Amino acid sequence: MAESRHLVGLLLGTEEDWPRAFEEILRRVGGVTTADGVRHTFATERLRISPFDLMDPVRPGLVIDRLAHWYYHPREWLKKAALVDGTYLLNSPFTFQAMEKHSAYCAMLRLGLKVPRTVLVPYKNPVDNARWAYTSATYNDPFDLDEIAADLGYPLYMKPFDGGAWRGVSRIENPEELHAAYDASGGMLMHLQATVEHEAFARALSIGPETMVMDFRPELPMHERYQVSHGFLSPGAGAEAVTVSRLVNAFFGWEFNSAEMLVAGDEVYPIDYANACPDVALTSLHYYFPWAMTALVRWTVYCLATGRRVGLERGVERYLEVADAASLTYEEKMERYRRLADEYFETERYWTWCAEHLGDLDARVLDWVASPDFDALLVETVRATYPEHEHDRFVAHVRGLVGQWVSERRD
Ligand SMILES: Nc1ncnc2c1ncn2[C@@H]1O[C@H](COP(=O)(O)OP(=O)(O)OP(=O)(O)O)[C@@H](O)[C@H]1O
Ligand SMILES: [Mg+2]
Repeated sequence: MAESRHLVGLLLGTEEDWPRAFEEILRRVGGVTTADGVRHTFATERLRISPFDLMDPVRPGLVIDRLAHWYYHPREWLKKAALVDGTYLLNSPFTFQAMEKHSAYCAMLRLGLKVPRTVLVPYKNPVDNARWAYTSATYNDPFDLDEIAADLGYPLYMKPFDGGAWRGVSRIENPEELHAAYDASGGMLMHLQATVEHEAFARALSIGPETMVMDFRPELPMHERYQVSHGFLSPGAGAEAVTVSRLVNAFFGWEFNSAEMLVAGDEVYPIDYANACPDVALTSLHYYFPWAMTALVRWTVYCLATGRRVGLERGVERYLEVADAASLTYEEKMERYRRLADEYFETERYWTWCAEHLGDLDARVLDWVASPDFDALLVETVRATYPEHEHDRFVAHVRGLVGQWVSERRD
């Protein structure tokens, strides 16, 4: 029998929990025999960082990257791997590097989504460049910050155009806070954004064509942010949250990403959705962690065994045609976008393929998550994450939620 060995490279920063889970679950996949009679086997390797010749061979067929958003040597290695060796990347720096919240706002506005009104203002501080004084004196328009804010209406949000991790985010109630926040923004480039009055905050984690929409509480401490509540959105808003996150991912070619949406009734307002390194920590995701790891393994195996390729050209004009179709309602457009996104992710083929080749994976993951081996990972992760006096409390917390996941599947 022909054999095809696939190596999955893990490009890691500081995480230990999910890589161990990923390695363990992938080991439990064993091998997959495809219709052409080829036996596919999978191994993982934690990638090292060293000088590389631009023509050195790259061994992994797929790399899951958690590092390149801040460490640029491996980022350049990823680009070389993609261009020279055709390595499949979750995520590709070509799709993420120039992209941030701002680009996603622009694209989603262009497609007619309900992004709250957003204005980009110039830097507060002079830009560190010898040409700045002349350029700004000659070309920068004076502007009235108060007028812009009054036009958006208070309260409003001021946040960096490339946001992440609450850095520089403020909720602004009045002109004094507006000026204080702008003065403090210094060298950051800021958006002013209208507030969305909402009842729910949906955070959708997507891995390939799989999406989990979670009830997120940004105001709570990290371990309580992902609530386990299944029917927190109306069926319509739930489906739309899936569509929005799959759409933005397909549009940009992001395959491992989380999206944040504010939900009021049936209306879904996307506010943040460009995260090259989404949170998949066991202590944050707890109940949802086994799903996330299974999805990451499934998508990896599917991409490698089916030889999936994605080019840099993703047919963006097809989305624009839908956006420009005057005869279509918002709901009809969302339906078309969903179909285009599902085409990009091969959603139907993926689920058929997984049923055929990975049918028992869920059961294997369940066995592992219920085992002492997983519990040891859980305890070690908590110990590495929290100060000693909190270990017992957080072991109990995460154990309880993971236990709930297990028992729901066993009963
Ligand atoms: N337009 C808005 N209307 C209402 N609330 C908002 C709005 N924009 C931001 N927020 C609130 O501010 C928080 C941070 O905003 P945002 O997600 O855009 O920034 P961030 O830096 O990515 O933060 P995080 O890393 O927590 O996601 C959101 O989680 C939300 O609670
Ligand atoms: Mg955010």
